[in-house]
Formats: sequence, C-alpha cells, structure tokens
Amino acid sequence: MKTTISLIKADVGSCPGHAVVHPDLIKTAEKALKETDLLIDYVVTNCGDDLELIMTHHHGVDSDKIHQLAWDTFEKAANRAKELRLYGAGQDLLKDAFSGNIRGMGPGIAEIEFTERKAEPVVTFLMDKTEPGAFNLPIFRMFADPFSTAGLIIDPSFHQGFRFEVWDIKEHKKVMMSCPEEMYDMLALIGAKSRYVIKRVYPKQGGKLPADEPVACISTEKLSLIAGEYVGKDDPVAIVRAQSGLPALGEVLEPFAFPHLVSGWMRGSHNGPIMPVAQRSARCTRFDGPPRVVALGFQCSGGTLIGPVDLFDDPAFDRTRRQAQKIADYMRRHGPFEPHRLPQEDMEYTTLPKVLERFKNRFESME
Ligand code: F6R
Ligand code: MG
Ligand code: MG
Repeated sequence: MKTTISLIKADVGSCPGHAVVHPDLIKTAEKALKETDLLIDYVVTNCGDDLELIMTHHHGVDSDKIHQLAWDTFEKAANRAKELRLYGAGQDLLKDAFSGNIRGMGPGIAEIEFTERKAEPVVTFLMDKTEPGAFNLPIFRMFADPFSTAGLIIDPSFHQGFRFEVWDIKEHKKVMMSCPEEMYDMLALIGAKSRYVIKRVYPKQGGKLPADEPVACISTEKLSLIAGEYVGKDDPVAIVRAQSGLPALGEVLEPFAFPHLVSGWMRGSHNGPIMPVAQRSARCTRFDGPPRVVALGFQCSGGTLIGPVDLFDDPAFDRTRRQAQKIADYMRRHGPFEPHRLPQEDMEYTTLPKVLERFKNRFESME
C-alpha cells in the first residue's frame, strides 16, 4: 500500500507579533491530530509564526478527509490564538467554511503519495518570511546541478536526470520539463521565481523508482493572489525524498550552504538571504527576518515517522549563517531602495498603487 505524506501549514497566530507560534497552539493541534484515526503518524511543529502539520496516511493526495482534518485543526488552534489574543489570530484561514479541498483557502500544502522503498529517508523543509519561489534554486540544484549533486554524474541510477513540473502561478498553467536536456529553457522560467515555481520533481522512466511517483513536492500557494490584497507571505514548505536512486541526504542539504536571496522578509516586500537554522532558531526577529529555512529529516517506515532530526542544527552550516548575516547587513543598508525592496511589479498588493492613485492628477506630461 502506498504512503502519503501531507505537509500542511498555516499562520494562525503568533507571539509576539509575527515571531513564533505559541506552545499552546502546538498542543491544541497535537490534541486534534491525536483524536483522529485517519492518520498513521504525525508531527506538529513550527517554523517561526507558521504552524506545521506533518501527517502520514493512506488516503492519497487531495483527500477531502485529510484536508478537512487540517482545516479543523487550524481552526481549533486559531480559536486558542484568539483566546490568548495572539497576533494575527486566524490570519491564514481566508474562507469562512471548508468546502472539500484546502487548496486556495489560505494554508500551504505539499503532499506526495509514493511506494515506500526498503528504507525511505524523507526531508521536510519549512520556510518562514518568504515565498514558494524560494525553493526554485535549491530544488534545481538538488535534482539538476552536478556541481551540487555529485550523484547526477556518479550514480548510474539517476545519471539520466529528472523531470520537473513547473507552474506559472499567475496564469494557472503548468509544464513538464526534462533535465538535463531542457535545463537552459527551464532556468529561463524558474529564474523568474515570483511567477514560475517548481511544484514537483519526478524520476525518469527506466530508473530505480516509479516514474509517476513524485520525489519532491513544494507548496505553491500565493496568499496575495488568493486574497487579492496583501495578507502575509506565503511561507512555503517542501517534501524531498533522498538516497538510493535519488540525491543523497547531503546532496539534498548542500544547496542550502549558499544563503541565496529570496523575497519576503519585512512586510513581504524585501529581498534578503535565506538562513538555514535549527528549528529552535526559526524566530524572525531582525527586521522580521532574515528569512529562515528549517530541515527536519525522517525515516518513513510504513508511514511511521522516525525522527525528526533537526538537520541544520549543525556547525557545518555556521558559516552559511554568518554569511547570511553579512548579506543581511549589506541589504539592509539599502533601506527603501531596490533591490532590497522588491521591484514595483511585486509590490502591487501593497501601498504603491495607492500612492500612485493619490498623485495621479499631479503627474504632468513631459511631451
Ligand atoms: C512578513 C511578515 C511581517 C509583517 C510585518 C507587519 O512576512 O509577516 O514582516 O508583514 O510585521 O505586520 P502587520 O501589518 O501585521 O503589523
Ligand atoms: Mg504571522
Ligand atoms: Mg510565517
């Protein structure tokens, strides 16, 4: 029987401000997941102000039962957040009533259904204060860049490369692209990370793993596109399987040794470095950031989650963190100027249109 991992997250309130999920919310969510018989296993945690439900089950992806469970769990946590008068209580629950699928309702979702191998290593990545496109660079490097993943050259079982499902999140279209053959075309798209995002990665036909079962999945919800105005960032999550015909654990983590620039940070309106941190250090304090990424590793055994191991809780990433801090200093010195502040197109859901509206009669033609 196949196993499904559903990683569903929402910001339903934090303390203080947009910093950290209150322990009561974690307890509330744990209690809600404990009471159901739908799951094989679960882990409730947080990355900064995002409450994260990592769940395994046999109901497949897009199961209305599992989505309902996640929604109800977030509602219970949001109610507790309201009682405590936490900040942004209920923020990401954009709709009043659940209607069969949690997609488009506010929470972020990454789900994969797959046949477990004899031993199944899985890494869940949790980001705070950034957007889904922040995963483009590291996922590309894991599954397509031989300078990062040595196995693309050395391991005959995935020397042929991988297939990528790329979404145009503005036009709601998707395209499958194959690497290495279409690598330059794919980079032309995914370099524009606020619009084109890698949604899933698949093995190729004839390899060790079934070609129709994803080996990675990234949440791609854009809250601003759902709500039509700025309602907080889209703090994404991802599930990545590793080893035996896939990038090794260290190859899955290696791209994060480079603190690449992502958009998000203060008011979802700034570019800054993403800092890989231990789960306990996912608390965005400086200028509400800099953006964080946490990696929790598991062995998935018949759906039981053995772990988590907090993978960035390692001195090997200290230098990356220091580098991220230096980049944060450098970027901050630009204040309200691009490229620290996001370009105009990406600011459309903030005050900029209102400023332009106010000044529209004072603009004079220069012709
Ligand atoms: C970024 C984020 C924060 C808030 C900022 C203002 O993703 O969540 O930087 O945008 O703290 O928050 P409000 O408008 O709630 O005062
Ligand atoms: Mg928040
Ligand atoms: Mg957040």
